[in-house]
Amino acid sequence: MKTPEREHWDSRIGVVLAVAGSAVGLGNFLRFPGLAAKYGGGVFLIPYFVAILLIGVPICWAEWSLGRLGGRNGYNSAPGIFRVATGWRNGHFLGVLALLVPLVVYAYYVYIEAWCLAYAWYYLSGQLSLGPDAETYALFFENLIGTAANGAITSNTRSPIVLALAICVAINLTLIYRGISRGIEAFCRIAMPLLILCAFAVLVRVLTLGTPDPALPDQNVLNGLGFMWNPKIASGETFFGTLANPEMWLQATGQVFFSISIGFGIIISYASYLRANDDIVLSGLTSTSTNEFCEICLGGLITIPAAFIFLGPDSVQKVAGSTFGLGFYTLPVVFEHMPLGSLFGFVWFFLLFLAAVTSSISMLQPVMAFVREGLQVSRGVAVLILGLVSSIGTAVVVHYSRDLVALDALDFWVGQIGIFLLATTIVFVFSWVLGADAGIAEIRRGALLSLPPGFRFVIKYVSPTYLIVVFGLFLVDNAATYTTQLRQQPEAAVAIGFVIATTLLLTVGVWHAGRVWSSRELER
Ligand code: ALA
Repeated sequence: MKTPEREHWDSRIGVVLAVAGSAVGLGNFLRFPGLAAKYGGGVFLIPYFVAILLIGVPICWAEWSLGRLGGRNGYNSAPGIFRVATGWRNGHFLGVLALLVPLVVYAYYVYIEAWCLAYAWYYLSGQLSLGPDAETYALFFENLIGTAANGAITSNTRSPIVLALAICVAINLTLIYRGISRGIEAFCRIAMPLLILCAFAVLVRVLTLGTPDPALPDQNVLNGLGFMWNPKIASGETFFGTLANPEMWLQATGQVFFSISIGFGIIISYASYLRANDDIVLSGLTSTSTNEFCEICLGGLITIPAAFIFLGPDSVQKVAGSTFGLGFYTLPVVFEHMPLGSLFGFVWFFLLFLAAVTSSISMLQPVMAFVREGLQVSRGVAVLILGLVSSIGTAVVVHYSRDLVALDALDFWVGQIGIFLLATTIVFVFSWVLGADAGIAEIRRGALLSLPPGFRFVIKYVSPTYLIVVFGLFLVDNAATYTTQLRQQPEAAVAIGFVIATTLLLTVGVWHAGRVWSSRELER
């Protein structure tokens, strides 16, 4: 088997759209508005922006530069990239986590993608007009995804969600098979502008709702925006007392990771397809800014204000903080009340579906790159292996559907803990193993924009300290609850069984790849 041909992005706008596509996803449109509403609207933006400045943008640049460095040395997967960046003979083992995180998150993310596709179809075909009762929508959603009992979906393979899932898996694998420029880049070039257009259409609809029910004059657009964005001081607290809530800082940091797709192993892999002197400072900043525009200006202005206008503050407060509560329980009721609701329901869920696909393909690519270059197999065989392993994870989530316990366990242990660990690894490798000065020189190669003053201090001292403190607090806050859950809920234990088995499999694969690569020179 000869070494796979080297792939590259076709254009700068293509790579920016692909990285932005990876970032813009369900996190922007569902998770962010729910969290912001829960943690005091404008108050939440303070820890959120601090996290973007101290870890989001710096780690993003670190990932881009490590990736391009690895790519220049002939590697597109995290194990190879870490081998080059550390200069250690066994440095590739650090890459196991950077394969595990995207693979496991993909396994459940693609299922949620299928819910969005199913809802888009239901709206398009006029099947989601169930009357004004919120209970009816809740039941519809719970039946569709089988939260009542394990096996509710797998015992009925004709269920519409199985078809939607099969379509999503097929789309993802096809795009990955087509490769970096003909698959991922070509799709993101169309999907990103289209989804932003759809979001604008829904935004204009929401901002022109005025006061739809004259009997409830307070439920109007301005108050809806105020409900979302006015800083809310907790009762009996001062502004600084409200701001000093550690849970809010943890959630804001986690949201920045999830949303920008850092600590996922994605940006490292995408950046490895750049050419040696392609800019990364401006490109990294542009893709992050695109993500923030979609998150704050589109995601933040649509869902909560719309729900406030039609359902009132109490209903919104109940679902604030809950991604699915807002997306699949509340918004369908909002569309029921909204003029042309079915049309906007379709546009909304279709845009969520597009946003989810541009993110989920980015979670497959790091593993695809590894299977290709580590196991030296053809593109078709690599997609087969990838499809098989990821589908086992998805099957676990679909089968163990009771109260979404399995999905929730994967999201906590890998989608949150795993991301923190990987982001910390990346910062340490960049700042302390490769060395901040060498890393910064790498970032500056071909840069179209200067790095901000103080970047060296931030990436070397502030980001790692911030990560360790926030991660420590996060563990103290959550780990006990989830460890108890592992003991008491068999679904969570099965999900973690999948994670452990996948980790072992990836470790063996990486060990094998290390042997294949052992004859290659290690140079930076
Ligand atoms: N960054 C992706 C999202 O926000 C994973 O959904």
